[in-house]
Amino acid sequence: MLSVAEQCSNLGFGVGLRTVHYTDFMESCPEVDWLEALTENYLGTGGRPRQVLRQLSMRYPIVLHGVSLSIGGSSPIDRHYLKLLKVLADEVQARWISDHLCWTGYAHHNLHDLLPMPFTEASLAHVKNRVDEVQNYLGRAILLENPSSYASFVFDGISEAQFLREIVLSTGCGILLDVNNVYVSSVNHGLDAKVYIDTLPAEAVGQFHLAGHSQREGYLLDSHIGPVPEPVWDLFRYTLARVGSRASLLEWDEEIPSLEVLLEENEKAKTLAALPSPAIQIHPELHL
Ligand SMILES: [Fe+2]
Repeated sequence: MLSVAEQCSNLGFGVGLRTVHYTDFMESCPEVDWLEALTENYLGTGGRPRQVLRQLSMRYPIVLHGVSLSIGGSSPIDRHYLKLLKVLADEVQARWISDHLCWTGYAHHNLHDLLPMPFTEASLAHVKNRVDEVQNYLGRAILLENPSSYASFVFDGISEAQFLREIVLSTGCGILLDVNNVYVSSVNHGLDAKVYIDTLPAEAVGQFHLAGHSQREGYLLDSHIGPVPEPVWDLFRYTLARVGSRASLLEWDEEIPSLEVLLEENEKAKTLAALPSPAIQIHPELHL
């Protein structure tokens, strides 16, 4: 089985491939290090999206990012979905495959939302088994992304970061560390974002996500709108110092700007990563 380290070379600074930019990419081949494609948009075997992705895979490294694996769900893993995913990954030579630490449906009903899961010893064992099943089928390690969250369960026994850490150590899967999600969740739950980052095994992090969020009444919403806010850039800087440089990806899904603006924002991540790392101190109360 391909490990996280074997798959996740530092590809540089990529952007999410969105339909509105297909023509730009196809016609002018803009300079960007790599592209992340939303798996579910390309699972059908025909049509323009699949054709575009296939052609772009000859010019850019492609990474597949899914929203339907439902690794935290209680219904059996959808083998048909895995089969289509494997074919697609082979076809576009996907460097790696990622999805979210969440559940998204029940009994073939996809709720099209990344729903929070309980963090208990029982759910930990459940998710470990499912990650093993998925990785064995795909023949490669997957990356799990930390979701943004707005609610937690009263019977949660461990933190999300500790939960993710345990899964990684047991299954050999990797982490897609979404820095904006860490920030959003830490504000929503009153937690320390740096402790979250410190808890994760740095060597298992294969990729970063950067994105914008929106202030709502009493909470932050992971809206993927607008440029990356300053507190997220600050946390990204801390993350770079703590984890090191990794393939980084800018997500912008609401009021999507021109490709030019998107790539300008991506340049900021590149500039930040090139700066010397600030001195950091690991949280003194952290016992891993
Ligand atoms: Fe993300």
